[in-house]
Amino acid sequence: MRVLDRIEQVRKELEAARQQGREVGLVPTMGALHGGHAALIERSARHCDVTAVTVFVNPLQFGPAEDFARYPRDLAADVAAAEAAGADVVFAPPVEEMYPSGVATRVEVGRLGEVMEGAARPGHFSGVATVVAKLFAIAGPCRAYFGEKDYQQLLVVRRVAADLSFPVVVVGCPTVREADGLAMSSRNRYLSPGERLAATVLWRALAAAAASGEGDGDALRELMARFVSSEPDVALDYAEVADAATLEPLGTVEGEARLLIAARVGATRLIDNLPLGVAA
Ligand code: PAJ
Repeated sequence: MRVLDRIEQVRKELEAARQQGREVGLVPTMGALHGGHAALIERSARHCDVTAVTVFVNPLQFGPAEDFARYPRDLAADVAAAEAAGADVVFAPPVEEMYPSGVATRVEVGRLGEVMEGAARPGHFSGVATVVAKLFAIAGPCRAYFGEKDYQQLLVVRRVAADLSFPVVVVGCPTVREADGLAMSSRNRYLSPGERLAATVLWRALAAAAASGEGDGDALRELMARFVSSEPDVALDYAEVADAATLEPLGTVEGEARLLIAARVGATRLIDNLPLGVAA
């Protein structure tokens, strides 16, 4: 496996692969790889001939009071995990390689980037969209794998690829969970043992709402909020039921809907989501 830190190197490597008729798979990450990332890499390695994993903690997508400085960084462990999951290339550029002269050009994604996570984290999705556009431009034609765990991000990335005509097929992959339902996340490692137990309430709230058969938006929101309020260490940020494509809140469940939840567990902000079928 090759570990590269220069844009020109990775560009050449992937271009050479395509010239030999090999299909390229791209898995963008911020490192601290866990089973959720591994599932994306494995899926790419199964379908594509060459899988490139990017490891880059993107400063653009963190707010000033967020965890950019303390975000877990361990390249050696990430390289080992990427290789074990079937990666052929790891691209881990320093910040100066990605943003050598600051950032004048940003990708904005409109309303999809402003609701829910976008409202809670102003500028976040512009930071994500900008770095993903750069990674797509660097990688060239490929299939790019993203997790449903970050459902709004998946929609944003699809929109970026479509609106900017990137030759990239965006592939969404199901959320990988711990045995007790907690969605795997790099930020789970911030949780104390007590918080780790309490954090399962996000999943419990979503699963209960999805199984309730309830079709009224407010009733679903209240049901999830009630679950979360039963955990004193967990502060609900939002519990939403929204159109699965636009993320606009729903009064009544119709067509494809998504349940989305965000909460602070101690000092750690966690998100999760589940699809909701058409109510009977
Ligand atoms: P990161 O949080 O490292 O996640 C990288 C990819 O792994 C994303 O597509 C995310 O949705 C997926 N992922 C994380 N946890 C998952 C889980 N439990 N199950 C399935 N997939 C999971 O998301 C980012 O990095 C960044 O915003 C990035 C897209 C790399 C841009 O900087």
